[in-house]
Amino acid sequence: MYKPDPKLKHLFDWHVESDSTWYEQLSRTGYHYRNPSPLPRPDAFRSIGLVFFNSSLRTRTSMEVAAARLGAHASTIIPGSGVWGMEWRDGVRMDGQAVEHVREAIGVLSRYYDALGVRLFATGTDYALDQSESRFKKILEAATVPVINLESALYHPCQALADAATIQEHFRDEVKGRRFVLSWAWHPRALPQAVPNSALLMASRLGMQVTIARPKGFELTPEIMNLANSYASQHGMSITQTDDQDVACEGADVIYAKAWSGNMRYDNPDAEAVLRNQHQNWRIRKRHLGKAVFLHCLPARRGVVVDDAVLNDSRAIHLLQAEFRLHAQMAILERAWNLL
Ligand code: CP
Repeated sequence: MYKPDPKLKHLFDWHVESDSTWYEQLSRTGYHYRNPSPLPRPDAFRSIGLVFFNSSLRTRTSMEVAAARLGAHASTIIPGSGVWGMEWRDGVRMDGQAVEHVREAIGVLSRYYDALGVRLFATGTDYALDQSESRFKKILEAATVPVINLESALYHPCQALADAATIQEHFRDEVKGRRFVLSWAWHPRALPQAVPNSALLMASRLGMQVTIARPKGFELTPEIMNLANSYASQHGMSITQTDDQDVACEGADVIYAKAWSGNMRYDNPDAEAVLRNQHQNWRIRKRHLGKAVFLHCLPARRGVVVDDAVLNDSRAIHLLQAEFRLHAQMAILERAWNLL
């Protein structure tokens, strides 16, 4: 498992960070929510380069604004779109489309910026590559400034911190023991597992009573389940799983919906699609809400993942959740730059 370089305040994922760092960052996120218009800090006159190998609305814009609110500069770099396409493999003769190696690109950007943010989704085709996070780790090796994970193959720590802060704010810090349902939802595309992984780890670390609702074949990986169960056991709990979405949502305090693909996509993507398409009825409906609040990391397809009636209900706090991305990332930048 990746061990952070203590000299550089990378953010790879919270599970490699201490409880004190996690709760300090959570507290600082709440501070920024309650103090939304800070004066730019003279000591934050820094720059961050945001490298997006995959698309984004929230992460990109909230990072740009988070930097600006601190008095820092952010610029966005999209490899292959006005920026040279990059090679990932080591030891290959680069006579194809890629113009420069990611090792040079990240090395160069490290000399211009005081931090880098990188979004790099799972390949969805190479299980070993995705599970080892070896592409993201290559970036960490090449960088000489702090790197913030803006969603990698397995983790979305910026989302997780915002999610935790949203839950804490909503329940006025009385979070432990509340029922958190992570519900799979159907989607026409095979989506990665970084968000459900991070949501599961976040809720179990907070001591919530976690249930995963998902059809058979859409289990999260054993490594993530083991990690989540170890957090749960620290609170005297365990993670429960069911393939009955209605039963799972009964009595929930939080329903967190997310579509993700089954791991069979790596060996047999056609079979994964067939299986996934058998569960098109898996979406959050008004009847599921009860007393629960609804969360989704967004983007969410209305009528596919969740009904309009849910998103239009006052118990849907997904926009507050999205707002918390900004506050969380201000805290993350402060940590990266030793401003706390
Ligand atoms: N939730 C999230 O990361 O949104 P974007 O993909 O728009 O950045």
